[in-house]
Amino acid sequence: MRLKILIGAMMGLATISMAAGTEASAADLLSQQCVACHAVAKPDKVSLERLWDRKGPDLYYAGNKFNKPWLVSWLQNPSTIRASGVMYAKAVKASGDKSVDLVDLAQVPAHPKLSAADAATAADLLMALKVDGLVTAGAFKGEPGGSMAPMLFSKLRGCTSCHTAKSGDKPTSGPEMYTAGDRLQPDFVHAYISNPQKFDAHTWMPTLGLTDPDLQKLTAYISTLKEKK
Ligand code: HEC
Ligand code: HEC
Repeated sequence: MRLKILIGAMMGLATISMAAGTEASAADLLSQQCVACHAVAKPDKVSLERLWDRKGPDLYYAGNKFNKPWLVSWLQNPSTIRASGVMYAKAVKASGDKSVDLVDLAQVPAHPKLSAADAATAADLLMALKVDGLVTAGAFKGEPGGSMAPMLFSKLRGCTSCHTAKSGDKPTSGPEMYTAGDRLQPDFVHAYISNPQKFDAHTWMPTLGLTDPDLQKLTAYISTLKEKK
């Protein structure tokens, strides 16, 4: 009888320490598997060299940027966001007739894929990474963009020279926008397009000096761009 209690207690202890073990490694998931390519803390110094050398986009403000359900799903099944340029600047090759530069996708390594459990853990840890003063909650008023919004994006404000709004369009140098409605928080979109240099002084996207009505319309439009399921 005593022995049984003792074994029971020991087993209880074993379960507790195992649970503690998994928890410790869960908290370390980003530092163990992600920091080789991503900044998960605000870098002390930003420089053009850092931007050029980094192996992946910054994640230290991930909690201000992403929608959590998108993170959970993308981390299990990552798709290409920046089909050319930016991170892949070093993988550019000339086309057959040398008229344009193409990305040599063979040189772009596939993103690590996480299990459902690790993706959920990583998403929780990423959503906790926030930086004060970058994104203003409620900056996007939530009103529909209206019929001019797609025109602003494609023609009037020239976003399509660097971003694609439709899957299958010719890859451009900026992140694709056709899943941006799933991926990005509207207040982040508003903040980013009003001043990309606030996020990184050297980032390639120019500050376009948009008025707030245009920012509202563009944010509303971008938020409707979702992957068809
Ligand atoms: C070998 C380098 C590498 C490792 C390791 C890596 N990533 Fe990435 N990650 C990238 C690159 C490159 C991209 C950009 C992909 C694209 O734009 O198509 C990216 C994109 C992302 C994005 C989208 C970011 C954005 O701004 O669009 C998230 C989120 C992300 N990674 C999370 C993680 C997590 C979590 C881990 C660790 C489990 C991880 N990554 C490990 C290279 C890496
Ligand atoms: C000259 C090219 C260029 C133009 C023009 C441009 N962008 Fe960008 N944009 C970029 C690049 C490059 C990035 C990524 C920067 C980085 O990761 O450091 C970016 C990032 C973004 C992001 C953040 C996306 C993400 O997943 O991180 C949004 C939103 C965005 N642009 C919207 C717009 C809108 C709206 C317009 C038009 C008003 C526009 N951009 C015009 C190049 C451009």
